[in-house]
Amino acid sequence: MAFYKLSIIFTNVVIASFLLLGLLKFSMVESKRNVTDRSKISYPAINCRKHTAFLTDYGGKGDGRTSNTAVFQAAVKDLSQFAYLGGAQLIVPPGKWLTGSFNLTSHFTLFIQHGATILASKDEKEYPLVKPLPSYGQGRDAPGARFSSLIGGSHLTDVVITGDNGTIDGQGKSWWTKYRQKKLVNTRPYLIELMYSKQIQISNLTMINSPSWFVHPVYSSDIIMQDLTIRAPIDSPNTDGIDPDSCRNVKIQDVFIVSGDDCIAVKSGWDQYGIRFGLPTQHMIIRRLTCISPDSAVIALGSEMSGGIKNIRAEDITAINSQSAIRIKTAPGRGGYVRDIFVNRMNLQTMKYVFWTTGSYGQHPVSGYDPHALPKVERINYKNVVAKDVKMAGNMGGIDGDPFTGFCLSNITIGLSARPKRLQWNCTNIYGVSSNVTPQPCDILKDKGSIECKYPLSPILIDKVKLKTCSFTSRKKVLSTFV
Ligand SMILES: *[C@@H]1O[C@H](CO)[C@@H](O)[C@H](O)[C@H]1NC(C)=O
Ligand SMILES: *[C@@H]1O[C@H](CO)[C@@H](O)[C@H](O)[C@H]1NC(C)=O
Ligand SMILES: *[C@@H]1O[C@H](CO)[C@@H](O)[C@H](O)[C@H]1NC(C)=O
Ligand SMILES: *[C@@H]1O[C@H](CO)[C@@H](O)[C@H](O)[C@H]1NC(C)=O
Ligand SMILES: *[C@@H]1O[C@H](CO)[C@@H](O)[C@H](O)[C@H]1NC(C)=O
Ligand SMILES: *[C@@H]1O[C@H](CO)[C@@H](O)[C@H](O)[C@H]1NC(C)=O
Repeated sequence: MAFYKLSIIFTNVVIASFLLLGLLKFSMVESKRNVTDRSKISYPAINCRKHTAFLTDYGGKGDGRTSNTAVFQAAVKDLSQFAYLGGAQLIVPPGKWLTGSFNLTSHFTLFIQHGATILASKDEKEYPLVKPLPSYGQGRDAPGARFSSLIGGSHLTDVVITGDNGTIDGQGKSWWTKYRQKKLVNTRPYLIELMYSKQIQISNLTMINSPSWFVHPVYSSDIIMQDLTIRAPIDSPNTDGIDPDSCRNVKIQDVFIVSGDDCIAVKSGWDQYGIRFGLPTQHMIIRRLTCISPDSAVIALGSEMSGGIKNIRAEDITAINSQSAIRIKTAPGRGGYVRDIFVNRMNLQTMKYVFWTTGSYGQHPVSGYDPHALPKVERINYKNVVAKDVKMAGNMGGIDGDPFTGFCLSNITIGLSARPKRLQWNCTNIYGVSSNVTPQPCDILKDKGSIECKYPLSPILIDKVKLKTCSFTSRKKVLSTFV
């Protein structure tokens, strides 16, 4: 008996030693690979950072199950000490990093590596409630508070969220279900919301399945958003791609968006709250956007536009299977204005409408609104548009006693679908001119012979920002099987 036990112990010791040896050998091999696998990653950014840290330095676990909320918060807090010492970059390495809401800091870069996914927690408690935005007066989904966005920040300067096509997954499905079942008393989180901030870059990322809007810069300026892939199911509620809201000097370029709502929605606050706050969205360019949005607009102006929207350029816009191209949405009560909008070169395939303006959009805060606060819509220019498979060319309505004026449409060729609407243009309470538009527009958009609608030739300020080439050395995990 005793001998038997001893022999078991002996056998175990032998096995254990072999295992230990094996492990040692294994990790030696791996750490050699480790050395050779280190690689330098370069990326374009508005500013480079002196200090580099990895999420794993703060105990992050990329297993897709462990919550890293406290880890992200601790990392950002710690790295904020470098803000005035050359700034810091936090690298999110390959893995699935589950987290709730966390805020960023100034002079800071969040870099999400290829193969890394920031996975949004589905737990409401991971998104502390915050006050409604002052220009909205209440949450957009419900009169209550708002769940903080997954990635947030307020009063920041010089913040970059980028990667080499790393992913942010909002896991929105449970939020969409709760929203549809009217089970939410607070407004759903956005994926990224930066407020009262300046010098912002969001680039080279894939974002999927936001609970609601994806990217929401608000009360901010000097913003570059580029090289983004944004995708949500085409029937998901309110999954707008990018919503610049009361922002100035904005560039959105080279983005591909599939959305259940507007691909881009330019906003500036809601009814009496937005009027009082009075901060417009202005000096903005959207270029090389590709959009799929069967139930909404490629670019919407509004419906929340009470602080005003002006001086917006859009060029080289491609849409496939979308409801309308550039849509102006407003209503009595909104106040504010939409003016000096310039659109050049759109290529549209399979659309319900090419042109759509709505003066009776509705949706007001529960606290009521002033029906005499009428929006002013003027100087809206579109040129060089080719559209195919279109149901109705233009559905253009203004407001009784408050017509939308100064529309200009030139060089526009609209091919109709197999079963188009009988009425191709419906224009009420709008005025303007047209030139070289087929099918021939309504009489109030008088054909002026050969004119060309305006598109500014002057450079736009945000294009003057040159990106630098920044870098860091990536790390591979010791046991690559955990990746
Ligand atoms: C993020 O910042 C906002 C605005 O300052 C604040 O209300 C919120 O509590 C912060 N969230 C976290 C998780 O620290
Ligand atoms: C970001 O995207 C741009 C344009 O596609 C590309 O030139 C650049 O290499 C990308 N950077 C990274 C780090 O992937
Ligand atoms: C980024 O990844 C998405 C899929 O996640 C892919 O569709 C897209 O083409 C990639 N973008 C680039 C620039 O590689
Ligand atoms: C009209 O638009 C088409 C398509 O965008 C373009 O190829 C053509 O050059 C434009 N014509 C003029 C006169 O600008
Ligand atoms: C045309 O538009 C007006 C105002 O938007 C609407 O009331 C009317 O029903 C429309 N007419 C047709 C025939 O669709
Ligand atoms: C291998 O990677 C680990 C973790 O990324 C790191 O701590 C270690 O120093 C690396 N080994 C070598 C020899 O570089």
